[in-house]
Amino acid sequence: MSTRTFRVWRGDADGGDFAEFDVEENEGEVILDVVHRIQAEQAPDLAVRWNCKAGKCGSCSAEVNGMPRLMCMTRMNLFEEGQTVTITPLRTFPVVRDLVTDVSFNYAKAREMPAFSPPADLKPGEYRMSQVDVERSQEFRKCIECFLCQNTCHVVRDHEDNKEPFSGPRLFIRAAELDMHPLDAREDRREAAQDEQGLGLCNITKCCTEVCPEHIKITDNAIIPMKERVAGDRYDPLVWLGRKIFRK
Ligand code: SF4
Ligand code: F3S
Ligand code: FES
Repeated sequence: MSTRTFRVWRGDADGGDFAEFDVEENEGEVILDVVHRIQAEQAPDLAVRWNCKAGKCGSCSAEVNGMPRLMCMTRMNLFEEGQTVTITPLRTFPVVRDLVTDVSFNYAKAREMPAFSPPADLKPGEYRMSQVDVERSQEFRKCIECFLCQNTCHVVRDHEDNKEPFSGPRLFIRAAELDMHPLDAREDRREAAQDEQGLGLCNITKCCTEVCPEHIKITDNAIIPMKERVAGDRYDPLVWLGRKIFRK
């Protein structure tokens, strides 16, 4: 057992500051254990969002020493003995209170995404797809909606104005999943990703991939293939001509 100093941001939408806590920590603990001890012993009104404590609900996202992380999956032995640990709320989203942010931006963007649309001549129960297609979408389905990728992407992190035109990496994997889905009948996924979701604003910095706790290869397996598909559609003369002729 040892004691360490933690700096925790406290405040609300009107502003705030860091509060310092000297807290006991035990072998094997994670940041969320320490935050709970601060709540139990020193600051019962400290606001923090969490649920599963197992890296599966995506609720406990915060920034620890400036790095976006799940608090329940960040072990204390990552930090040197005696090193001060600073915990701040996600920077890209508005603060509700203390470590809790309003992530409704992500839900609003999800609502803009056209839903899965199976072919009209198939009834439920008649859908069939090959294993390789199932496996491809399973990688994207591992997303726990922690929004660490959304918080990290500089397109919205540093440019509030981009929140209107840019849906972000979490939604780009959804667009890619549906565009690659053999039973999705919509033909306009790529155009929507480019023109309505702001895929073109992504300059492939890969910061989103680096912070994903589910290790989804967001950039390599979703964003880059979508960009290539958009480029193929727009600049391949045969594809362009085919679309002109066969679309209404
Ligand atoms: Fe979190 Fe990864 Fe999903 Fe982004 S893609 S919301 S980082 S799990
Ligand atoms: Fe942002 Fe990821 Fe692209 S961090 S710029 S969406 S590669
Ligand atoms: Fe569920 Fe951390 S509490 S992911």
